[in-house]
Amino acid sequence: MPSKGQSLQQNCSIGMNVQRAAPSLRRLGSLTSEEKRSKGQVKLRLYLGYMAAWGPLFLLPTVFLLTAGSERGLQQVQNWWLSVWASNGWSVAGDAANQDMVYVAVFFAIGVGSLLCGLLRAVVMVIGTVRASRRLHSQLLSKIMLLPMMFFDTQPAGRLINRFTKDTEAMDIQLGPCVSAFLVMLSSAVASIVVICTVSPWFLIAVVPLGAVYWSVQNVYIKSSRELKRLDSVAFSPIFNHFNETLQGLSTVRAFRQSGDFAAKNLGLLNSSNRCWWPLQVANRWLGIRLELIGVSVTYLTALMTAVWTPVNAGLAGLAVTSALSMTGIMNFMVRQSAELEINMNAVERILEYEDEGTEAPPVVDDRRPPSDWPSAGVITASDLYVRYREELDPVLKGISFSTGPAEKIGIAGRTGCGKSTLMMTLYRIVEPIRGSLTIDGQDILDMGLRDLRSRLALVPQDPVVFSGTIRSNLDPFSQYSDDKMWSALRQVSLATVIETFEGGLGLDSVISEGGNNLSVGQRQLLGLARALMLGSRILVLDEATSNIDNATDELIQATIRTAFSNCTVLTIAHRLHTIMHSDRIMVLDNGRIAEFDTPKQLLKNPEGMFSALVEEASKKSLSRSKSQAKVADLVATEAQRVLALPSMKERAP
Ligand SMILES: Nc1ncnc2c1ncn2[C@@H]1O[C@H](COP(=O)(O)OP(=O)(O)OP(=O)(O)O)[C@@H](O)[C@H]1O
Ligand SMILES: [Mg+2]
Repeated sequence: MPSKGQSLQQNCSIGMNVQRAAPSLRRLGSLTSEEKRSKGQVKLRLYLGYMAAWGPLFLLPTVFLLTAGSERGLQQVQNWWLSVWASNGWSVAGDAANQDMVYVAVFFAIGVGSLLCGLLRAVVMVIGTVRASRRLHSQLLSKIMLLPMMFFDTQPAGRLINRFTKDTEAMDIQLGPCVSAFLVMLSSAVASIVVICTVSPWFLIAVVPLGAVYWSVQNVYIKSSRELKRLDSVAFSPIFNHFNETLQGLSTVRAFRQSGDFAAKNLGLLNSSNRCWWPLQVANRWLGIRLELIGVSVTYLTALMTAVWTPVNAGLAGLAVTSALSMTGIMNFMVRQSAELEINMNAVERILEYEDEGTEAPPVVDDRRPPSDWPSAGVITASDLYVRYREELDPVLKGISFSTGPAEKIGIAGRTGCGKSTLMMTLYRIVEPIRGSLTIDGQDILDMGLRDLRSRLALVPQDPVVFSGTIRSNLDPFSQYSDDKMWSALRQVSLATVIETFEGGLGLDSVISEGGNNLSVGQRQLLGLARALMLGSRILVLDEATSNIDNATDELIQATIRTAFSNCTVLTIAHRLHTIMHSDRIMVLDNGRIAEFDTPKQLLKNPEGMFSALVEEASKKSLSRSKSQAKVADLVATEAQRVLALPSMKERAP
C-alpha cells in the first residue's frame, strides 16, 4: 500500500488516468487501517532529532555533557584528594595547622566546583527538555493543521488525542529526567571505569566478559519491553476514541439506555490496554532480578578468588571486592537507564510519526499569486473535472464541465449523495481533483496557494461549525470588523434580535458554549451565513445553508442574498427547491455528472427532465404526511407555477 504522502501526490496529479484507479474490489478494505507501530530499535536519527530540538547546534546537549562529566570528574578528584590528605602526600610550607587548612580548602573548592557543575547541568537539562517538548509539540500541531482532509477520514480522533495527551505528557515529564539520568550515568560510568582501571588495571580483564553478560541480558529486556511499550501506547487510542464518541453521542446513548454497555466497553478497552502495561512491569522485575543476580555473583566470585582460591593480602582483597561492587553497580545502572531511555523515546517516535505525511498544497505559491482584486467578475469555469476522496475509491465527480456568467445566481440540486457538496469542496480544494481544470476569472485555482484561494471565497458549509467563545470571536476571529458591520450582518440574517436578547444581554460578547450547543442548528447556520456576508467576497457558496431554518426566514434570507450579493456569483445547494427556484440557472447533478443545467423555466418545460421529476416529487408530498412537508411542497409548487405559469402541481398529481 502506498504511503499517505504518495497517495496525496497521486491525488493531486492532474491528468492521471482515472480508469486505472479504484477497482471496486479495493473498496472492500476498511476505512481506517490499524494504528502504525514502529518495529525494532529506535532509530538514531530520532535521538539526534530529539537532542537537536533542545536548541541550536547541539549547544545545550554539549554543555550538559561537559557539566555532567565535570561534576563526576570533580567528585573523583575529591576522592583522590582525600586519599592524598590521608597519606599526607602534599607538603606545604608552614606548620601542621596551615597544612590542614590547605587540605580542607582544596577539598571544599573541589566540592563547590562539583556542586556548581551539577547545578548548571540541572538548569541546562530543564531548559533543554522544556524547549524540546515545546518544539516537538508545536511541530506536531502545525503538521496536523496542514494534513489533508482524507487523513482525518482514515484516522480516528483517539489516535491524535493520544499523541497530544499521553505521548506529550511522557515527553514532558518522563523523558527529560530519563535523558538526564542516562547522560549522567554515562559520564559517571566513564569516570568510574577510568578510576577503577587506574587503581587496579587487571580489572579491565573482567570488564569485557562482564559487559557481554550485561549486554545480553539488556538485549532480551529491551527488545520485549520496547515492543510492549509500543503496544501499550497504541492500546490507549481506542480508549480515547471510545470516550470521545461516547461524549458526542451521550444523549443518544442515554435515550437508548445503552450507558451500561458503553461503560462496559470502556472498561474492556482499559483492560486491553492493561494487558500490555502489566507485562511491562513484570519485564522490569525480570531485569531487576537478573541484574542483582549478576552483581552478587561477580562480587561473590571476586571474594572467593581473592580470599579462598588465590589468597592475597587483606588490603588488595578489599580493593578487589569494592571495585567489583562499584563496577556491577555501574553496569546495573547503565543497563537500566539505556533501556528506560529507549522505552521512553517511544513518545518522541509517535509524536514525530506524522512527519512524513503529505500535506495540503502550500498556503501561498509566490509565482501563482492572484491579483489583489481577484475575483472581480466571479466567473467559475470547470472542465472535465474528476474528483475522488481517496485513491482506492471511485471518482465522486465524473467529468463535470460548466461555466457560470459574471455575478450569476446558480442553484444546485440533485439527489442525496450525487456530489453537490463535493463540488463545493473541490472549489475550496478541501479535496483535490484528479483530472480536469477549474478556473475563476480565467485564473487556474488548482495551482495557486490555498490561503490565497480560500480567503477570496465565502463558503457556508452543510454542517455549520461554531467554536466556543463569543458571538464576536466567531464572527470576527481576527478582529477585522467594526461592531456596526457585525450587527448589520446579524440583522441581514435575522439574528440580531436573538443576539440582543441572548443570555445575560451581552450582545456580541454573549458566550457560545462548546460546539455552539447553546444555539439551535438553524441559529448556527445563520451565524455562518453572517460570517460569510461580512467577508464581502465576489463568490458565495451556500451548501444547504438554510436547511434548518423556517420557511419565512429562509425566504427573507434568500431575498437578502439577492440584494446584498447582486454583484456576486452565488452557488446555492438546496434540497428545498423553492430556495433555488429564483436562481438564474439551475444545475442538476446526477451520480457525479451534470444531468441538466439551464434556467428554471427551461428545466420545468421538460416534463421528462430530472428537475421536473424533483419538483413533482416535492409537490406530491403536499398530499401526504406532515403539515410542514405539505407546506414546503406547496411552496415549491407555487414557485414552480410562478416561474412557469404551469397548471398547479397538485392538479397534475395522480
Ligand atoms: N470524506 C469522504 N470520503 C469518502 N467518500 C465521501 C466523503 N464524503 C462524501 N463521500 C461520498 O461522495 C459521494 C457524494 O457525497 P456528497 O457529500 O458530495 O453528496 P451530496 O450531493 O452533497 O449529498 P447531500 O445532498 O446528502 O448533502 C457520496 O457517495 C459519499 O459517500
Ligand atoms: Mg451535501
